[in-house]
Amino acid sequence: MAKYQAIKGTYDVMPAEAAAWQHVESVVRRQARAFGFREVRTPVFEDTALFVKGTGEATDIVQKEMYTFTDKGGRSLTLRPEGTPPVIRALVEHSALKESPCVKVFYLAPMFRYERPQAGRLRQHTQFGAEIVGTDSPLADAEVIALLFTTLARLGLSGLTLRLNSVGCPACRPAYRDTLVAHFRPRLDTLCGDCRERIERNPLRILDCKADRDRVQDAPAMTDCLCPACAAHFDRVKALLKGLGVPFAIDKTLVRGLDYYTRTAFEVASQHLGAQDALGGGGRYDGLVEQLGGDPAPGVGFGAGLERFLLAMRNQGVAVPDGPRPDIYVAALGTAASDKAAELCGMLRGKGYACEQDLQGRSLKAQLREANRINARYVLVIGDDELAKGAASLKDMDTHGQREVPFAELADNIEAYCECSCQG
Ligand code: HAM
Repeated sequence: MAKYQAIKGTYDVMPAEAAAWQHVESVVRRQARAFGFREVRTPVFEDTALFVKGTGEATDIVQKEMYTFTDKGGRSLTLRPEGTPPVIRALVEHSALKESPCVKVFYLAPMFRYERPQAGRLRQHTQFGAEIVGTDSPLADAEVIALLFTTLARLGLSGLTLRLNSVGCPACRPAYRDTLVAHFRPRLDTLCGDCRERIERNPLRILDCKADRDRVQDAPAMTDCLCPACAAHFDRVKALLKGLGVPFAIDKTLVRGLDYYTRTAFEVASQHLGAQDALGGGGRYDGLVEQLGGDPAPGVGFGAGLERFLLAMRNQGVAVPDGPRPDIYVAALGTAASDKAAELCGMLRGKGYACEQDLQGRSLKAQLREANRINARYVLVIGDDELAKGAASLKDMDTHGQREVPFAELADNIEAYCECSCQG
């Protein structure tokens, strides 16, 4: 066993797995661009107070899951457990909403939560998140949901369920909260220990308790208690999703574990995942910007776990395109040939080709095996004879055709010999 190992709940992406990651990341970036979202990058750690205030003091994240530490200057800092409060902080700090009243941003970033690791639940995970800040239009809700849904479809994922709910607003939620407490209080002894505590602190969370799933089915639904403005908003979101062809199911138990949500709440689950089946989730947060010190501005967004995307793709048997292959492997025998190979590789790389050579003085057989293993498109073999001639044979590894190429021609006219795509 290796002396040092990756910390529990974290993992390494080894080169063999990197192509799958790059594929997912490039699909995500393409989709975000297609929807007009621009990338934002924020620091990995923030002032702890940002999450206490933004994510919410009563949430599991703040209560139990944050990686919080004191730095050498005595500040309390926290590794980002979720992307929304940092993004809002950055937009407010940089006055982005003054420049443009409606901002659309996305991020691909690591998040840290001290959770009990299991399949699909990690202590460091990577989120694709998107936020639209500055509009309360249901068009924005439908747009972020469509971005998440179409990204998953583009990745080849099927068996998806979009669960949708509205959690109301500060105008209608207090009355619903009272209705819910009145419903559960006589049934308190049927609820789990956590929910018995939640009834005072956060009764809505009883609805999404896994342990009490059967006992909440007859609870009153928020969607029956919405104020006229929230009801109209929810109706339009549903109509827009229908128009976009995004299928959804209303789930009155979907309340989400973060404090900032208002109105729309949603989650996309995959039938190809186990207990941790949420590929992504999000909702509207119309009070968060003001709560974090900005001028009042509504917002809506989602976060989605890339590890779960990859797990669902693997479980579903989705083929991932191979990563880019090297263009030319230069096999050389002897010191003088290796020096020439280094010179040729340098020249070809300068022209934008991906080239490799042996760095260990291995046999020709071993070098050709390596060229095969890395799936090089062409192989150029150089020995003493080739050096003397000033030319070498270039082998096409796909067609097995072979031709002699003078070194000078390689430098001046490589395109005439190779069909690979220049990356430069
Ligand atoms: P969240 O539901 O806490 O929302 O996380 C979003 C997604 O991140 C989850 O659906 C899941 O795919 C992934 N995820 C969360 N925790 C883990 C974990 N421990 N291991 C692996 N994957 C995980 C948020 O974070 C909100 N900031 C989303 C949002 C953005 N709402 C509005 N805007």
